[in-house]
Amino acid sequence: MKRIIIAIDGFSSCGKSTMAKALARNIGYLYFDSGAMYRATALYCMQNGLIAEGAIDTESLRTRIKEINITFGVDPDTKNSITFLNGRNVEHEIRSLEVSRLVSQVAALDFVREEMVNRQREMGKAKGIVMDGRDIGTTVFPNAEMKIFVTASAEVRALRRYDELTARGDKADYNEILENVLQRDHLDQTREVSPLKRADDALLLDNSNLTREEQMEWLIEQFKKLTGQC
Ligand code: DC
Repeated sequence: MKRIIIAIDGFSSCGKSTMAKALARNIGYLYFDSGAMYRATALYCMQNGLIAEGAIDTESLRTRIKEINITFGVDPDTKNSITFLNGRNVEHEIRSLEVSRLVSQVAALDFVREEMVNRQREMGKAKGIVMDGRDIGTTVFPNAEMKIFVTASAEVRALRRYDELTARGDKADYNEILENVLQRDHLDQTREVSPLKRADDALLLDNSNLTREEQMEWLIEQFKKLTGQC
């Protein structure tokens, strides 16, 4: 059976990862979270003294970028994907608001993007993958056979993020999260290198009013159409 690359891009907190993971599970593909790579890099900066007064020490990061080893695994109990930073499970830490605040700065650095994009292309060599992010359909895999651009209103996205954080027992403030969502949208869309934008050939999916089941049904339908399966 033909194996393809599925690129899922879109705004932050619109459920891309949950959707991409579920799709990969459904069709027996590997899932890669490209955002986790930028988040892990931001965490590395925080934990290795590369931040001074809220700003990244870019030159030190440049010299150490190859030392930042990021790998993915699967939790044997929950079957959720786990991100490892230099061999340590950082899946929980990279989702903190502190990392969320810093990550756009990290993701805007050209040498960081170049490095991560190269690593992401390696991951796609064997095809049969679903990767989500911001520039997967435009820059990482411009020839991906299936491209989805996901969106939802900022308020819906902030509420989802709030529910996610509180569900796992973290303290959360809805207004603070909404502010972070809007700020990240702005930074993601206006940065010079690989800004977030819909690829011309990406299918648009606004999931503000869709259930997960409806969304999955739509995705599988697109997948079947593109791979010629009925
Ligand atoms: O999807 P996320 O919220 O985990 O992404 C974290 C940050 O990384 C977000 O600010 C956008 C950035 N990002 C990016 O620039 N390119 C990607 N392919 C994935 C994420």
